[in-house]
Amino acid sequence: MSTSDSHTLHRSETLYRSQKLGMKYLIAAVALFGVMIVFGFLSALYYLFPGMFFNVFDFNMSKTLHIDTLVIWILMGLIGSIYWYLPKELGREVVGIRAAEWFFWIFCAAVAVVALIFLFVQTGKANMWTLWFIQQGRKYVEAPRWAALGIVGVMLVFSYNVIGTAIKANKVTGIVWVLMIDLIPLVGVYLFAFDSDTNMSNDLYWWWWLVHMWVESTWEILIGIIMAWVLMDVMGTPRKIVEAWLYIEVMLVLGAGILGLGHHYFWIGTPDYWLSIGGFFSALEPLPLLGMVVHAVYDAGMHKMKTRNRPAYIWITTEAFLNFIGAGIWGFMMTLPQINLFSHGTQWTVSHGHFAFYGAYVCGIIAVLYVVKQKVSGMELLAHRRWYWGYGLLNLGMIGMVSALLLSGMAQAFFERATGGSTLMAFVIASEDPWFTAGLWARAGFGIIFAAGYVALVYDLLASVKQVPLPTDQRRPSVVRSAEPEVA
Ligand code: HEM
Ligand code: HEM
Ligand SMILES: [Fe+2]
Repeated sequence: MSTSDSHTLHRSETLYRSQKLGMKYLIAAVALFGVMIVFGFLSALYYLFPGMFFNVFDFNMSKTLHIDTLVIWILMGLIGSIYWYLPKELGREVVGIRAAEWFFWIFCAAVAVVALIFLFVQTGKANMWTLWFIQQGRKYVEAPRWAALGIVGVMLVFSYNVIGTAIKANKVTGIVWVLMIDLIPLVGVYLFAFDSDTNMSNDLYWWWWLVHMWVESTWEILIGIIMAWVLMDVMGTPRKIVEAWLYIEVMLVLGAGILGLGHHYFWIGTPDYWLSIGGFFSALEPLPLLGMVVHAVYDAGMHKMKTRNRPAYIWITTEAFLNFIGAGIWGFMMTLPQINLFSHGTQWTVSHGHFAFYGAYVCGIIAVLYVVKQKVSGMELLAHRRWYWGYGLLNLGMIGMVSALLLSGMAQAFFERATGGSTLMAFVIASEDPWFTAGLWARAGFGIIFAAGYVALVYDLLASVKQVPLPTDQRRPSVVRSAEPEVA
């Protein structure tokens, strides 16, 4: 493409308020992504220097901040991406946008308050006061009840925005149908964040409904929707094709994911039949993820890899592949009860947790960030080279981290469980095993590379936004060249 073609920019189009809100959500998400990395790295240091900040700020709170910021920023990233695409999809401003804007600020304020509580108050007595105002102590959803109510508020307003806009626009596309239906379980399973059963098995039973059904069902559908929009946007893939794939993916996600929930019921005191149900259905869970890979590769072939936004296209394709590998293959490795007996709750699980979240959600949200960057900086073609730094370092850091954790996890599975017989002594011996500790050192090292990748990503996103070209009539080709157009 020649530089003169680059004149037909879309900067002159104005942004919908919903898109501006989407950008705010995405900016907040990127900021929390940074906070998450800080606490992830800190958590990794406790494994190397266990006495660190003893009784002042311990591993448990550091890890809580790491994984809670993770859940919140991914949620913000998904919601932000949808606020970005929805008005374009339905051809009008989003209904109830003012309420949505208010709730964004309430959401941010609540996150800040909860972070301060986690940093300084940390824990409380085992009573209702603690549950409501300090923390609920349930992994990934530790936030106190008042804050959890806030999240329900955000999601209800979000649901009203989506459904209200579809009604007002008097138009529902296939993608929006899928989105509207997905909102029901999305909000529904979150309500299990409020449960507080004193029976540990019951409590875990319902808690998994939330954790598993969010990340392996309802969020997978959201990312499928976002992938459909991104592919249409940056590749020009016909709607008929993305929608057909989306239906297939959704059917498979729900078909395997609902009963796949059973892979968390092996050892929590539930009936034995979960061993076979969980093993069988969760083993099918990689299928929809494979479908997404085929979809992305199919589109790439159909368009001979031509795209207006190379970083977004490469990140969304990477999302498809790493979602399949991190969630599908890494999850499959330990989803059969015969193997899970040995791998359960080891660093093997942590390896899968990192790889899956990164592949499925982080990569997809980064793709949207590049879509937004292209639009706000008004570049017809986004094909500069600097983005490779963030891409390369983030992927290297993550693949290094998960490989290191897999090593540690396998050492635990073999030395602690298989040969050691799961005794306390075997646990202690395995924690000092050189294979185990080597993996933890390597994880910290690759964590630094990952953090460097984050810095490179943020720099690339911000630096390019600064190069806002002049309005079309005043623009000279040299200004446009800052995007280094090349045939992509
Ligand atoms: C995007 C999709 C996925 C994400 C984000 C994800 C994330 C996670 C996380 C964070 C955990 C650890 C939970 C904890 O104990 O705190 C976990 C556990 C697990 N996941 Fe996934 N997962 C995904 C998909 C899958 C798939 C497709 C499978 C199977 C094919 C799978 C199989 C498992 C199993 C068996 C466990 C339990 C590990 C244990 O016993 O310790 N996951 N997953
Ligand atoms: C995109 C980046 C990241 C994602 C998506 C992520 C996700 C997660 C998840 C899901 C868990 C819970 C896993 C489980 O208990 O099974 C976790 C725990 C943890 N993460 Fe990360 N993390 C990321 C980056 C990092 C980085 C850069 C580091 C440090 C170098 C790190 C260090 C840790 C540590 C130490 C834990 C605690 C694991 C344990 O309980 O032993 N994470 N992270
Ligand atoms: Fe699961």
